[in-house]
Amino acid sequence: MSYTVSQLLTEDINFQPIEIKGWVRRFRSNRFIALNDGSTINNIQCVVDFENTDESILKRITTGAAVHIKGELVESQGKGQKVEIQVTSVEILGDSDPEEYPIQPKKHTFEFLRENAHLRTRTSTFSAVMRLRSSLSFAVHKYFNDNGFYYMHTPIITGSDAEGAGETFRVSTLDIKNPPLSDDGKIDYKKDFFGKESNLTVSGQLEAETYAMSLGKVYTFGPTFRAENSNTTRHLSEFWMIEPEVAFMDLAGNMDLAEDFMKSVLNYILEHNLEDLEFLNQRLLDEEKTKPQAERSEMSLIEKIKFVVDNNFKRVSYTEAIDILKNSKPNKKKKFNYIIEEWGADLQSEHERFLVEKHFKSPVILFDYPANIKAFYMRLNEDGKTVRAMDILFPGIGEMVGGSQREERLEVLKEKMKALDISEEELWWYLDLRKYGTAVHSGFGLGFERLVMFATGMGNIRDVIPYPRTPQNAEF
Ligand code: 4AD
Ligand code: MG
Repeated sequence: MSYTVSQLLTEDINFQPIEIKGWVRRFRSNRFIALNDGSTINNIQCVVDFENTDESILKRITTGAAVHIKGELVESQGKGQKVEIQVTSVEILGDSDPEEYPIQPKKHTFEFLRENAHLRTRTSTFSAVMRLRSSLSFAVHKYFNDNGFYYMHTPIITGSDAEGAGETFRVSTLDIKNPPLSDDGKIDYKKDFFGKESNLTVSGQLEAETYAMSLGKVYTFGPTFRAENSNTTRHLSEFWMIEPEVAFMDLAGNMDLAEDFMKSVLNYILEHNLEDLEFLNQRLLDEEKTKPQAERSEMSLIEKIKFVVDNNFKRVSYTEAIDILKNSKPNKKKKFNYIIEEWGADLQSEHERFLVEKHFKSPVILFDYPANIKAFYMRLNEDGKTVRAMDILFPGIGEMVGGSQREERLEVLKEKMKALDISEEELWWYLDLRKYGTAVHSGFGLGFERLVMFATGMGNIRDVIPYPRTPQNAEF
């Protein structure tokens, strides 16, 4: 019978002989194959009877080769594993030239592995990260399904720029060397494929709102695209966003939902992916040892995840946060690049990190931001100057979630759009929601890769998505 490595290592196997297919991670002493097939972080040891195996076959058992092994599963004589395979036959399915194969059994830099992203999941680190990514996606769907949400597929090609930041990728079939022009000399998008300017979506929120206002509780989980030229360890040009949207829910309910949701998905991986987490935990502990004492993290990866699951997020208004920042040491000593002088300042990541990593040492939900630093659709507070926005900030990551209670009053929304020069004609359908049965509603967006970064302890967002798209890079 054929098995996976995971089955052989964890289940009671009664049938003999067994068969397995996988890739050789290492072959040592002409005898011991460490075999992996992706089903677990662990390899199974396959012991080759080298005296009775052809020299020509032994030579072809090289790191990276695909093999089909038959043999007996036995209790291991050696240390480090309970069982191993006494090999009776090895068939080489695909050779791998040991001189050329990039993934040698040694430490590679993440930069090198990024250039070999098609092979990097053959390392323990990246296979663990991608199994966790898969598991977290499942946990996301499970959470919403268990809690009465409908999964909605919002369009990827759209005419609207939900965030109004103008960082969209245009979708067009016009000849860019020779585009059709209208009388005023501008490009005539009426002649374009969709008959109007269109772009890749930056967020499914506006469309999700339409479904929330009929189905009640919905969420989207799909790719989003932003043409911002941010070459940081936390920005991608293509990333996956989870966006729930709920009718009759206010900002406090939104905070409760976000917190419960994040705790639930993190708890899911603690329960289902402990081996991968333990591996990454150790990887980080080893990495920490190379740092000076002062820069080392106080908690290990698993401790950090448990901390988030077991403790309440701190809820702090923007106004309180500004007071804390104004009176903080780095502000007074002018250590921040952007000194906080007055209420209304936009928070930079250095400020967010100070709040979560130094001051609160916990995830923080910041709410009630100044209206003019947030998107047009957020509900204006009675003070006339703040909006019911919330950002959730995480240690080591910064902004993980952005959300708000939505402006449900037609006149107030129109006013806001006018001030920001957002066309009512374009968003006629969005305004209709405020005309026909409008009601309080709220939602948020969680950047999935940032969640995966937190859950795996990876320091660069390019290392938690299979094929990262960033400025100047769309390889693979
Ligand atoms: O804060 P943002 O821009 O919010 C929205 O798009 C709202 N429409 C969401 C909503 O209310 N339904 O983005 C939400 C989250 C951020 O908090 C961040 O985690 C992530 O998306 N994000 C990015 N992740 C990776 N790369 C980028 N370039 C990102 N931009 C935003
Ligand atoms: Mg945001």
